Amino acid sequence: MIKTKVTEILGCKYPIIGGTMARISNPEFVAAASNAGACAVLASANYESPDELREAIKKTQSLTNQPFAVNINLFPALMPQEKLVEYVDATLDEGVKIIETSGHKAPEQLVPKFKEGGAIWIHKCAGVRYAIKGASLGADMITVVGYENGGATGTLDIGTLVMTPSVVDSLDVPVIAGGGISDGRGIAAVLALGAEGVIIGTRMMATKECPIHDNLKQAFVQAAETDTSLVMRSIHNTHRMWRNKAAQQIIDLEAQKAPLETIIQAASGQKAEKMYKEGDIDAGMVSCGQGVGLIKDVPTVKELLDRMMKEAEEVISRLQNITT
Ligand SMILES: Cc1cc2nc3c(=O)[nH]c(=O)nc-3n(C[C@H](O)[C@H](O)[C@H](O)COP(=O)(O)O)c2cc1C
Repeated sequence: MIKTKVTEILGCKYPIIGGTMARISNPEFVAAASNAGACAVLASANYESPDELREAIKKTQSLTNQPFAVNINLFPALMPQEKLVEYVDATLDEGVKIIETSGHKAPEQLVPKFKEGGAIWIHKCAGVRYAIKGASLGADMITVVGYENGGATGTLDIGTLVMTPSVVDSLDVPVIAGGGISDGRGIAAVLALGAEGVIIGTRMMATKECPIHDNLKQAFVQAAETDTSLVMRSIHNTHRMWRNKAAQQIIDLEAQKAPLETIIQAASGQKAEKMYKEGDIDAGMVSCGQGVGLIKDVPTVKELLDRMMKEAEEVISRLQNITT
């Protein structure tokens, strides 16, 4: 059994954060991942009002008694800054004591609320300087994702292998690292780099409980590590996406220097939702990391996490056995 500061502080069985995924991380999926041993993260950006978030939290609590977190997305285009406070209040009022922030610079104005509410605050970012800033503001843990990561990658383009030890060396608080982790070898590697936990997104999509259409899960099983691209860099919102027709259309628009509104309209999250529900795998864009190339099946979340942790333990003991 692998025990780290992350399992100790968050109270989860495995040192795994089930990464928040917009339009995907709903109560049922979060509960499935937390019941399977991860600390999963509910995406507050899925909800149009703090009351809707409250209902989602209550639903999640009815489905699991294991720890889960709520993600507060700081990206200004996604949520007006004054609204953020209401989402944080809703989270704390409903008794969730693990809050992850992501998507923009560390939220200085919210820190007193996290602290007064007794929350464990995890700030997720994609660079050493942002990690240092988050920790200096009082983050209890920092999550850092490298270039392989599915979703927002930032602008620095530093891979997980270099990003993780750089951040670990710069901070006193526990570090959770990810970007490209799809099996137990990845977990063991990131722990070897000094992280106390790992974050997994892309790999979790190809599981039975993930609320996306089976066509997309099967497409991920078939995909190679070369099938992702960085998109929306020209509008300062770089994301790593699965390179389907919808992503290629954005890449083409960016190459043509299309106006911002055209790109934003083409990238609409509603199209992704249609793809998730109806299974037309070219209908919208989906965040996807390079680790998609390592996906070979669609197990339950529990089968996946048990298998990954068993493999991580085997890797660690194999490495112990090669030392003389
Ligand atoms: C489909 C998808 C949607 C995501 N949505 C969000 C999001 O809304 N907010 C966020 O902070 N991270 C989001 N992420 C990033 C994940 O939470 C996690 O950090 C990332 O997936 C880890 O890298 P990996 O995909 O290589 O495992 C998303 C990732 C994926 C694959």
